[in-house]
Amino acid sequence: MRLAWRSGRPLYTERVRKRVAILGITGSIGQQAREIVEAHPGLELVAAASGSRPVDGIAPLTQVGGDLTDLLEAAAPDVVLNAVVGFAGLPATLWALEHGVDLALANKESLVAAGELALAARRRGGGRLLPVDSEHSAVFQCLEGRAADTVAGVVLTASGGPFRGRTRAELADVSPEEALAHPTWRMGPKITVDSATLANKGLELIEAHFLFGVPYERIEVVIHPTSVVHAVVRFRDGALFAHLGHPDMRVPISYALTYPERAATPAPSLELAGLTLAFEAPDLEAFPLLALARWAGEAGGTAPCAFNAANEEAVAAFLAGRLPFVGIADVVERVVTEADVTPARDLDELVEADARARRMAENALAVAA
Ligand SMILES: NC(=O)c1ccc[n+]([C@@H]2O[C@H](COP(=O)([O-])OP(=O)(O)OC[C@H]3O[C@@H](n4cnc5c(N)ncnc54)[C@H](OP(=O)(O)O)[C@@H]3O)[C@@H](O)[C@H]2O)c1
Repeated sequence: MRLAWRSGRPLYTERVRKRVAILGITGSIGQQAREIVEAHPGLELVAAASGSRPVDGIAPLTQVGGDLTDLLEAAAPDVVLNAVVGFAGLPATLWALEHGVDLALANKESLVAAGELALAARRRGGGRLLPVDSEHSAVFQCLEGRAADTVAGVVLTASGGPFRGRTRAELADVSPEEALAHPTWRMGPKITVDSATLANKGLELIEAHFLFGVPYERIEVVIHPTSVVHAVVRFRDGALFAHLGHPDMRVPISYALTYPERAATPAPSLELAGLTLAFEAPDLEAFPLLALARWAGEAGGTAPCAFNAANEEAVAAFLAGRLPFVGIADVVERVVTEADVTPARDLDELVEADARARRMAENALAVAA
């Protein structure tokens, strides 16, 4: 397996030499990142962390839970692959950017909650922010070398999840098992539920705004059920650049870890003959979290942090059987519309905004459950 895509061909230029820390190594992205690192002679795994599952012996330095910046300080990696799920990934994101260390970012929640702080840390530290989310990796690649004033807009594609085409009424009784059956991607449970509610695309909308500096009104979302087109960039002359490929996270993970080399991966190339591409507008009535995320993003300050915190709490409650599927949006809407929006000036203020939104979500859960 490890050598499967190396045999017979000198696929690696070996220009890349990087010491890699993988945070969230026991998860879906973490495991695929480990596969990429193990197969690339220029990548060395120097540190690994999880939240609770054991990671002993996986890397020279390991840590389970706690403050992941301790691990990063000790390991001094060249690149941090942040694949922790949720707000818990924030300190590592800020650490990498502040220390001028490359950040391969899968943990979108940290950039959503703390976009302004993260960009300020990057300005001070000078670290590169390399997106791992497939849509953002695609946009990043379409934008490379282009002047900002030539970009007319960005289009993020969404598979639509397992409930595409259903009305809100038809979503009333769906179970966690049904929500976890994603049609095109195999992912951890939180992001899989987020894909089913379209909250994931809402998080990605905010993520794209901070990553690429594009105003919200120029970021579109379209439903594209087969997930072959990962994103599209519209240029001012009418040209559209799209990034296509099989839905396989090893491609954007490898791109971020080996940037700018673009190393080979085991992902097969897409056959174009016979391929048809279908797109449709998202149904914002059945899936209101996408519009709510846009509202929170445009409100700015602590609003995206509140959106993220309420969503994390509501998804956990849904997975635990404490909340119906449609209740996720109800809880988030209540928190986002009632939470005070303040500027997110430092980490302490943001952590407090996150905690406040979680308390409000707990109260809203009691009503919505
Ligand atoms: N999966 C995908 O295809 C995909 C695509 C794009 C973006 N992403 C993003 O990537 C991130 C990870 O997604 P995933 O699907 O890989 O999730 P996952 O399979 O649930 O894995 C989550 C990882 O985070 C670790 N973790 C949780 N809390 C932690 C903490 N407090 N400290 C350290 N580690 C902690 C978990 O450790 P334990 O195993 O010990 O709990 C696990 O290794 C999410 O932000 C997601 O939105 C995922």
